[in-house]
Amino acid sequence: MSTPPKDPNRKRITLTKLHEMRALGEPIVMITAYDHPSALVVEEAGVDVVLVGDSAANNVLGYPDTVPVTVEELLMLTRAVRRGLKTPLLVGDLPFGSYEASDAQAIETAHRFVKEAGCDAVKLEGGGAMAERARAIVRAGVPVMGHVGLTPQTATMLGGYRAQGRTAARARAVLEDALALQEAGAFSIVFEAIPADVTDAIMPYMEIPIIGIGAGASTDGQVLVLHDLLTIHDDFQPKFAKRFAAVKDEMRRGVDAYADEVRSRTFPAPEHTYNIAPEELERFRAELPAVPRTHVG
Ligand code: KIV
Repeated sequence: MSTPPKDPNRKRITLTKLHEMRALGEPIVMITAYDHPSALVVEEAGVDVVLVGDSAANNVLGYPDTVPVTVEELLMLTRAVRRGLKTPLLVGDLPFGSYEASDAQAIETAHRFVKEAGCDAVKLEGGGAMAERARAIVRAGVPVMGHVGLTPQTATMLGGYRAQGRTAARARAVLEDALALQEAGAFSIVFEAIPADVTDAIMPYMEIPIIGIGAGASTDGQVLVLHDLLTIHDDFQPKFAKRFAAVKDEMRRGVDAYADEVRSRTFPAPEHTYNIAPEELERFRAELPAVPRTHVG
């Protein structure tokens, strides 16, 4: 039996609504999704923002990290998610190599996510020069979500997948990136893997909704990767990825049971098979040619 939607009369989440939520201190719930069934689930659960993250690379496409995933691959997944969503704000993640080279490249890619996949906004990683890309995209009419702290697309430059902002100088760099994105017109920023005390110190400077992932509890909202929180895979999980369900175990249990029943011939049972009227079966049998000798058991 399927669980009914939390709020069947829920209105579409807009940028204005997110800013209102921030002002009212109402936590913003953001989550990733990469396919249509997941989109239906997160829609029913009433989350506020859905990100088709470039983390699809490792979570559903089998790449070792987010670097190889292409615009075409993410557009295909994003379209599937779009078809399953009605109310949450849909954010498309610009993959590595699709926006850094120039403002023109960034605008062209952002427009594709809006026109070809129905995104409400796009997300890009990094401050510095990337704040200028954010400004260009916003000027071209597409809302931008920034992403600072641990930015997986450039993890090698950051010394690997590790928390950021752990020295005074590095914490200052996170603040500067966030301020640059805010000044460039980003409507929201993801803070990833930053000490909670650093987030607490930065938050008073922020005037837009800040969404944390491993950045403590003082942000305006939280985001987690669906496959991490449901444990759809049992690869390495970062410290911040709390496991709220054990879906891989349940999937494994189901596939094991199916294989056992096929092997023991207990599946399919009568209730899984179709019937034919006895007289039709009789007529069919009567008209059958003799079984060739080679096929007689
Ligand atoms: O791609 C991703 O999963 C992200 C996280 C911050 C949620 O960018």
